[in-house]
Amino acid sequence: MAINYHETSHIFILNTKNTTYQMKVDAFGFLLHLYYGAGVSGSMDYLLTYLDRGFSGNPADAGMDRTYSMDALPQEYPTQGTGDYRSSALVIHNGDGSDCCDLRYVSHEIREGKYDLVGLPAVFAGEDEAQTLEILLEDSVSGVRVRLLYGVLEELDIITRSVKISNLGSEDVIVEKAACACLDFLSGSYDMVNFYGRHVMERSFQRREIVHGAFTIGSRRGASSHQYNPAVIIARKDTTEDAGGCYGMMFVYSGSFLCEAEKDQFDQTRVLMGLQSDLFHYTLERGEVLTVPETVLCYSDEGFAGLSNRYHRCIREHLCRGKYGQIPRPVLLNSWEAFYFDFNGEKICKLAEEAAALGIDMVVMDDGWFGKREDDNSSLGDWQVNEEKLGCTLGELIERINSLGVKFGIWIEPEMISEDSELCRTHPEWVMRIPGRKPVYARNQLVLDFSRSEVRDYIFGQICGVLDQGNVEYVKWDMNRSISDIYSQERSAGKVTHDYVLGVYEFLEKLMARYPDMLIEGCCGGGGRFDAGMMYYTPQIWCSDNTDALDRLKIQYGTSFFYPASTVGAHVSAAPNHQTGRSISLHTRGVVAMAGGGFGYELDPDKMTAAEKNEVREQIAQYKKYAPLLLTGDYYRLSSPFTDVYTAWMSVSQDGGEALVSVVMTLQNGTNNMPTSYVKLKGLCRDAVYEDRKAGRRYYGSALMEAGLPLPSELGEYPSYQIALNIVTD
Ligand code: GLA
Repeated sequence: MAINYHETSHIFILNTKNTTYQMKVDAFGFLLHLYYGAGVSGSMDYLLTYLDRGFSGNPADAGMDRTYSMDALPQEYPTQGTGDYRSSALVIHNGDGSDCCDLRYVSHEIREGKYDLVGLPAVFAGEDEAQTLEILLEDSVSGVRVRLLYGVLEELDIITRSVKISNLGSEDVIVEKAACACLDFLSGSYDMVNFYGRHVMERSFQRREIVHGAFTIGSRRGASSHQYNPAVIIARKDTTEDAGGCYGMMFVYSGSFLCEAEKDQFDQTRVLMGLQSDLFHYTLERGEVLTVPETVLCYSDEGFAGLSNRYHRCIREHLCRGKYGQIPRPVLLNSWEAFYFDFNGEKICKLAEEAAALGIDMVVMDDGWFGKREDDNSSLGDWQVNEEKLGCTLGELIERINSLGVKFGIWIEPEMISEDSELCRTHPEWVMRIPGRKPVYARNQLVLDFSRSEVRDYIFGQICGVLDQGNVEYVKWDMNRSISDIYSQERSAGKVTHDYVLGVYEFLEKLMARYPDMLIEGCCGGGGRFDAGMMYYTPQIWCSDNTDALDRLKIQYGTSFFYPASTVGAHVSAAPNHQTGRSISLHTRGVVAMAGGGFGYELDPDKMTAAEKNEVREQIAQYKKYAPLLLTGDYYRLSSPFTDVYTAWMSVSQDGGEALVSVVMTLQNGTNNMPTSYVKLKGLCRDAVYEDRKAGRRYYGSALMEAGLPLPSELGEYPSYQIALNIVTD
């Protein structure tokens, strides 16, 4: 049993293969956190200390005992109003004007299987793969009830947490803040690793100490954002890539979020993950329920690599759904960087012919095919095919492409509206903007109120009307601005940001149900919504609008800490690169793009030489050969693009029998006079002999991991290498 409750001590023990999580209902009914970390035996309530702390108050239940304070004790779900002055997981504004919620234990239930969350993305598991613990807490004065949900995936070392808040009182309450997970650490010094960035430079690695005071990362943009990814690592000071203890908190949500870290007066550390509290005032009427999306927790004592591989497996096998969850995706050729808005049906067909000749599986017609869209200033919302521009119907275009043996995919941006659109003229009230104020524009576009079902239903009908015109096998779902002007004609503004995201999820769910075989790729100006929530619907996400191979090394490095290669959309684009002006060899562009499970091209092959086209054919053959390994293997970062002279990574099959190592030299100061770089491999079988057939060499796994492979010294900018290894037994 992964979950146990001890009747006498009132302790809950959650055990996974390598970790233990404990909490206790104390004599007053408070739920105290006891321990989370490497597997331990016995009850951990001996860790709690009780001292008379100055200026830390005591609940009335404690009577004359001044040693009991919520300000000092570790808690499972801290709320405002109980005498805990640290950051709260839950803030409730009551009907009487007070901000207080005093949650006490009522009951609990342990059941087989993993809970699911209606209308929200969540980790799924079979009945025999997971257990659920549901703990009911109540504030007896307001009638607010909180159900803490824990999903334990024993084999994967994963514990998920979600929260359901309901109002059983007689008056409306307002949820002002709601986290779904809190980790309280009694002692120790920790670093937080988070992934920050901007458009065209997402998910840069940052590590800093959690010192006294509080700091936050998060998003107020309505999407999880390019700026801060909703996943963080809390690492012991001495934790490295390969060793030491670290905790992951990955929010399965695509909207505004808040992660807070705090070291308190007693050197205890608290980290919270949940919904953003700014622009959020969620009124709960009597009987209403708010489900806080889930956070996936994991502890690894094998450093960041151990943590990453656990998350990768969890996402691949228990979050990505649909036909393409784990199987190789079609190699695609996208029209965006090839033509931008300047295309017609002939040019798209020409792309398809080139694709067929190169062995590319699918052509994607990106932005510019609908309404009267010739640039990014108009037509969003008018999802009618511009047949005049294409010179044919969509059905005819797809048939021509399919007759070449090439699949067809299309770009959409359903949540958006241009002021210059028929839809905006007909339904100005569907646009999110505040009455009496001028809106904030971004890319000259506005946002549709996706919290409203009639808006979603209309757009859904329009999009289906397009997708039903032919054999569309892929959709790229884009979202090209942050949300502002939070307002809805239908609900209080404090509910809009969250209900908007629920609306997006409902739309995606309907799309998946109607087109079960269609691959949906997520996108938000590249990687502005690269989160576990979207992965429930879109098994691959366009990683960044920056396709420069050198920058991608950093972006993909940061992405890899939580998200598996299978989710990463990565394309070879033209040289010089359109975002940076850098010219990197086709070979290196290919090696870097192959780090993603959504491999493709983003250029006009017509502009390539015959030699380049041959190289592309070889790249595709190489990709297809290794796609299963890249999609399902364990992934190891072998160096850091931020600090090392080369960037290397590798995939190893689950049985250790096969590996593909990729290396890009990023710093060269004189070829022959450079110190030789040795790349040490990881995850191999120590005693097995591996063959590099191309080089005609054999090595022991132990040698490759302990001493490494010397890298060649070669003239040129950013040379790269792929080394394929197989166990040999003869
Ligand atoms: C976003 C996407 C690009 C492209 C454009 C089209 O920026 O990230 O890949 O689809 O929109 O407008």
